[in-house]
Amino acid sequence: MFEKNDLSALVNEIRSLLNEQSFSCASLLNTALASVTSNITHNVSKSVPACVFLPEAATSIDGPVGLIISSQWDKLAWRVPGFGMINTSISDRIAVTELVGPTGMIKHDSVSMGLLLMAPNLRYPSHSHAAEELYIVLSGTIEWTIQDKSIGALMPKMAVRHKPWQPHEMKTRDAPALLFWGWTGDIRSETYRMN
Ligand SMILES: [Fe+2]
Repeated sequence: MFEKNDLSALVNEIRSLLNEQSFSCASLLNTALASVTSNITHNVSKSVPACVFLPEAATSIDGPVGLIISSQWDKLAWRVPGFGMINTSISDRIAVTELVGPTGMIKHDSVSMGLLLMAPNLRYPSHSHAAEELYIVLSGTIEWTIQDKSIGALMPKMAVRHKPWQPHEMKTRDAPALLFWGWTGDIRSETYRMN
């Protein structure tokens, strides 16, 4: 079981990461985190196949957030991405956890945020959704494409924002990648679609 204090420590580290971002959605997410009361609703840890890459991805993160994720990742509720719309040969190599949100470990109705893990040498196919989205890279290097246009490789501490419905895809290199993600605006998961 994820202890309340462990999750609070992770939330505090995520707030520090968000504080360094200039996107307005980062401050919206930060404000939401300031108001959550560690009301953990899903305290049963759950593993998916891609979790085998978590130790490698987490130990390469600098600072306290790396230490917390390294020691606590197996206590989080992980799922595969794509709401059943991604082929299992890909989705089994990706793991998502929703820390805060409508179905998150901490319940929140108007924002959704968590962590995403991708296996090495993997392409997350182009997809879009109604929510505005912020990603912050924690470990790994990821080639990023928005609306069929490459924006280059993102390294740790770099962030990217997707406007609502902007198609995007990501590809890892020869190391796993761990990222923070956050949704604001229309966060309904049923708007998620593959392009
Ligand atoms: Fe997205």
